[in-house]
Amino acid sequence: MKSDISSQGSNAPGSSFADAENIQASAAADWAPGIEVAFPREFREGSRLVHCVQGTVPEFVQGTYYLNGPAKFGVGNIPYENWLDGDGMVCALHFGGRNMRLTNRYVCSTKHEIEKEKGGPVFRTFGTDFPGSQLNRLNNGLESPVNVSAYRFGDELLAFGEQGLPWILDPHTLETRGQFTAQGRLNDASPFSAHPKFDSVSHEMFNFGIFFSAQVPRLYFYCFTSEGWRYRKAVTLPYPCSVHDFSLSRRFAVFYLSPYLFDIQGFLRQDQTVLESLQWVPKRGSMLMVLDRSNGEVVASIPLGQRYCLHLMNTFEKDGALVVDILEFDAPIYGEYQPIHRMFQNVTKGGPVRIVVDLQKRELANRIPMECFSSPDFPAIDPRNIMQPYDDFWMLGISSSGRPGRKFFDQLLHGNWSRSTMDVYQATPMRYLSGEPVLISASGSEESVVLCQEVDVAERTSYFLLFDAKSVKSGPIARIAVGQLLYCGFHAIFHPGI
Ligand SMILES: [Fe+2]
Repeated sequence: MKSDISSQGSNAPGSSFADAENIQASAAADWAPGIEVAFPREFREGSRLVHCVQGTVPEFVQGTYYLNGPAKFGVGNIPYENWLDGDGMVCALHFGGRNMRLTNRYVCSTKHEIEKEKGGPVFRTFGTDFPGSQLNRLNNGLESPVNVSAYRFGDELLAFGEQGLPWILDPHTLETRGQFTAQGRLNDASPFSAHPKFDSVSHEMFNFGIFFSAQVPRLYFYCFTSEGWRYRKAVTLPYPCSVHDFSLSRRFAVFYLSPYLFDIQGFLRQDQTVLESLQWVPKRGSMLMVLDRSNGEVVASIPLGQRYCLHLMNTFEKDGALVVDILEFDAPIYGEYQPIHRMFQNVTKGGPVRIVVDLQKRELANRIPMECFSSPDFPAIDPRNIMQPYDDFWMLGISSSGRPGRKFFDQLLHGNWSRSTMDVYQATPMRYLSGEPVLISASGSEESVVLCQEVDVAERTSYFLLFDAKSVKSGPIARIAVGQLLYCGFHAIFHPGI
């Protein structure tokens, strides 16, 4: 394993920020000085032309980058505690001809609109407790803040939150049009994850949701065509566990089940937050559950040890094996999103793992971890390689992982499975990275760039960075100025075309 760190420095502990909020003194070092600046109560909406302040954008970059993320860290007199609490904002960075236009708007979800009208908190959140908080009446879950991801499906842009219906946005203006219900087949009682998967050949969308019954926990697996509903299959789970993501191969859907158990009775009875209702019980064991994509039937359930997976990277079939690439950790991540101004204090180390399943024997054939010390997240690959054998992937990392104290993403990593290498771009001090790295490739060429966010907490402003995808350690080839502070986003996509 080679690991190359650029010489551009790191965020040194103990740096001060002049008018930072009153961060409690702590014996632990501060590996993310000034990061509180990146999480204000609200962000300004707007639409404006933006420009490069460094380098140039390659001509083949034509299309729209979409990014969703939490962008409101308090309502009325209640400050939010967890990164997942904030109402979602979507931005569209459009590359058209020689111009670049950035549009950013809040998703006008039920939660956002009712709380805006009331001027105070109404709905229970993922991690912030307040008296009298309300749940969604139909599913006894959270009224979704719609803050995790955004995907194109047909002519529509859909914004997703955790376990709630997506909302339809105008792909150009980002105006909210209403909830996505698949012609009325879904409603607020339908659990629906923020990580749908798309097959660009069959034009199908797959997704899942968890029904957190203590007696009969179930996973609902959905399949939609571009014309609408195809099927829903209920699959019984070994325990009522939190599942955030899944992956597709040509024939299978793959779920990494971790024993991060949700106590629905406690959640309903005791007015507790989602985070307070989740318990990590490693002795219950983790499992890889493989479903037949054509009908949702269980094909294999394979014990995997006692670790945790938030995001999967890619899955493909080769020579009778199912290859499942994931990011795996010793413990769950959600608790590290809290408190917002002191995130990742004790984030567990983790990294990429390649799991190989013998499809004939329906058992684990191999397990290949890749050395990584940066608690990486937001894995991404070239969209052309989804469900295909591939080598290259990109993700964000935390340079100070493994040391106590608050920290945040400050590395862009480029991994390669065959070479077992990890190239690293290290952000300069007081600058942090966010948003799933997105790969944009030139048609019919090896040329490609990676796009992610950067926030400069000293200048209180944000940028988008473009890197040569095969040389991230060389630093950005272009830096696009937003002209204001933009929320630190979660998941992003690039939709090609003018
Ligand atoms: Fe995610």
